[in-house]
Amino acid sequence: MSMDSSSEYQIPLNHYIPNASSLAYGCMELGSNSSSITPEAVQQTNQCIDTALEAGINFFDHADIYRSGMSEEVFGLALEQRPALRDDIFLQSKCSIKFEDDVAPGRYDASHDWIIKSVEGSLKRLKTDYLDILLLHRPDPLMQPEEVAKAFDTLYQQGKVKYFGMSNVQRHQLEFLQHYLDHPLVANQIELGLNALDWLNEGVVVGHPEYQGVNFTGGTLEYCRMNKVQIQSWRSLAQGLFSGRDVTGQAENIQKTAQLVAALAEKYNCSREAITLGFVRRHPANIQPVIGSTNIERIKACAETTRVNLTREDWYSLYVSSRGERLP
Ligand SMILES: NC(=O)c1ccc[n+]([C@@H]2O[C@H](COP(=O)([O-])OP(=O)(O)OC[C@H]3O[C@@H](n4cnc5c(N)ncnc54)[C@H](OP(=O)(O)O)[C@@H]3O)[C@@H](O)[C@H]2O)c1
Repeated sequence: MSMDSSSEYQIPLNHYIPNASSLAYGCMELGSNSSSITPEAVQQTNQCIDTALEAGINFFDHADIYRSGMSEEVFGLALEQRPALRDDIFLQSKCSIKFEDDVAPGRYDASHDWIIKSVEGSLKRLKTDYLDILLLHRPDPLMQPEEVAKAFDTLYQQGKVKYFGMSNVQRHQLEFLQHYLDHPLVANQIELGLNALDWLNEGVVVGHPEYQGVNFTGGTLEYCRMNKVQIQSWRSLAQGLFSGRDVTGQAENIQKTAQLVAALAEKYNCSREAITLGFVRRHPANIQPVIGSTNIERIKACAETTRVNLTREDWYSLYVSSRGERLP
């Protein structure tokens, strides 16, 4: 048996939610920027949901703030048209970010009352009775973990949220909140991908002071793996940088990596999106990328990644190319 085949070692994605797809569909671009949802926006949402489901993606990622609530609202209208769908999908939403308003600048709020209020708003907009997962979107320095624990308990007891997690947090923040909770933290959604490499660089830079700029606390990936916290990754598609977006004027490492991705797509007979996401998925942490496209063909192209298993050599070629320098 080849020691180089990552698939041999893959565990079911989320320990607590075994049937969740290994890709998540990010709903941040669904909806409308206007004050009301148009029929076209509902139609587009239905098309995206159908394309995702046909491609095997059953996990949908929301946040209360996406398009100021419009993303959840348009999704809820789509769900209302076919209520049976609810049982076939996993719905995740997030809270804790507040936009700038008359009262204060953009800020975070993980207080008990805001968590409850935010979830109630999400449920109403999504036209559902429960969320499968609720994430705290960003860490609030004023967070009192006991308050969060109380809010999570209430939401769980009321049947409004099944599981809880965090987003954009480091290992010690997961450990800290977990200490106060009766519920396991099941997910951490963080920025990582072929164009956001600190998650890898933090592991290879010991003894190299020139890497002080690495902005990813050592041990987060390992903590998540050891404690069955599903790592979900945003920006893993790199907003198309390696899969067709015009890279004129971009740094040399981006341009060269885009060429390498194209060559690998030919080699593996798949889309460039599949290679870009395949880079994340080849890591043994069993990461679940959240893809944010509303383009039907692109969603399909992303889903091709589930049949790509990069060789160790190709994975390192991508890593080193995107770093723009040799490994230490
Ligand atoms: N937890 C957090 O803090 C956080 C932060 C940001 C996002 N998220 C989640 O992650 C999801 C993904 O968002 P992301 O920011 O990471 O984006 P992404 O998935 O890396 O990229 C998606 C965006 O890139 C565009 N794109 C992709 N390929 C392209 C190409 N070849 N040419 C032109 N445009 C291209 C897409 O446009 P098309 O629609 O035209 O394909 C879409 O706007 C979001 O929906 C959200 O659920 C979470």
